[in-house]
Amino acid sequence: MNIPHIPVLLNETIDLFKRHMNPKGYFVDCTLGFGGHSEAVLENFPEIKLIGIDQDKDALSFAKKRLEKYSDRVQFINKRASEALKELKGLDISGVLADIGVSSYQLDNKERGFTFDADTLDMRMNKDQKFSAYDVVNFYDRNQLEEVLKKYAEERQFRKIADFIIKHRPLNSNRELADVLHKAGIKDKKRMAPIFQAIRIEVNNELKELENILNNVENIAKNGTILGIITFHSLEDRIVKNRFKEWARKCICPTEAFKCECGGNNQKGVILTKKPIVASKEEIKNNPRSRSAKLRGFKFTKGENG
Ligand SMILES: C[S@@+](CC[C@H](N)C(=O)[O-])C[C@H]1O[C@@H](n2cnc3c(N)ncnc32)[C@H](O)[C@@H]1O
Repeated sequence: MNIPHIPVLLNETIDLFKRHMNPKGYFVDCTLGFGGHSEAVLENFPEIKLIGIDQDKDALSFAKKRLEKYSDRVQFINKRASEALKELKGLDISGVLADIGVSSYQLDNKERGFTFDADTLDMRMNKDQKFSAYDVVNFYDRNQLEEVLKKYAEERQFRKIADFIIKHRPLNSNRELADVLHKAGIKDKKRMAPIFQAIRIEVNNELKELENILNNVENIAKNGTILGIITFHSLEDRIVKNRFKEWARKCICPTEAFKCECGGNNQKGVILTKKPIVASKEEIKNNPRSRSAKLRGFKFTKGENG
C-alpha cells in the first residue's frame, strides 16, 4: 500500500497516550487522514475501540482500507470533527486526538488545488463545501483580503499584495495567483507558502473549527479523558495553549477581583505538556513537514461524570 502521508510526532503521540490513558473504552481520532496515528493506536491498545473522523471522503476511503484488519474495532464518520463530536456525548471516551490541518496527499495532489501550480483555485478539505479559494481571491473586498494576509500569513506587505490581487481579477488558478504574487515581489516560495496557507485557513475556517473542536471535546470529556492536539501554525498553537491554561485554572474570577468568589473549584483537568512536544532533528530530516508541528496534551479530571 502506497501511503501518501507520513504521520508526524507518531512515537511522541503514542507515548503521551500510553503514559496517561485508560487503555479501554473509545478513542476518537478527529482527523483520521490516512490512518497513520489511528493504526498505531489500534496496535498499541488492543482493547480500544476507535472512531475515525474526516471531512475528506478520499482520506476516509483510504483509511478504511488501511484499517480493514481492525474493522471490528473501528467506526468511521465523514463530517467536520466539530459536528461529529456532538454525536459522541455519553460514550466512555478515553482519548481524543486532533492532528489539525491538511494531509500531504491534499497538499501534493494537484487536482485538490493546494499546490502552487494547480489549475484551479480550490483548497477545500471537504469537496462538498461550496466556498473555495476562488471566492476568497475573487470576491473578498480589500479589507477582508488584507485581514487574511495580515492575520494568518503575518505578511508585512499585506496592502500591496491585496492590491495586486484585486487589480488582476479574475484569477482562475493557483498558478495565476502565484504569478500575481510574483509580480507583487513575492518571488521566494518560502514567502509564498504562508500566503497560500492563509487562504487555505480562511477557506476551511480552520481556526474557528479548532475552537469548536475544543468546545465539543470539553462537552464530551469524562473524568480521565486524554486530549492530544497537534498543530502546524502559531495561531493554532496559541489557541490550544490558552484553552488548556483556561481549563487548568482553579479560580476563574476576573484578575482584578480582590478575593476569590468562584469557589476556586473550577479546574477541568491538568496540562500534561508544560512545553509543546516538537519533532526531533531526525524526524524533520525525514519529513520536513514535521518542522512546525507542536503536540500538546491535557487530562480531564472533571468531565461529564466529574
Ligand atoms: C494532518 S492530516 C491527518 C493525518 C493523520 N493523522 C494520519 O496519520 O494519516 C489531517 C486530516 O484531517 C482532516 N481534517 C482537518 N481538519 C478537520 C476537521 N475539522 N474535521 C474533519 N476532518 C478534518 C483533513 O481532511 C486531513 O485528511
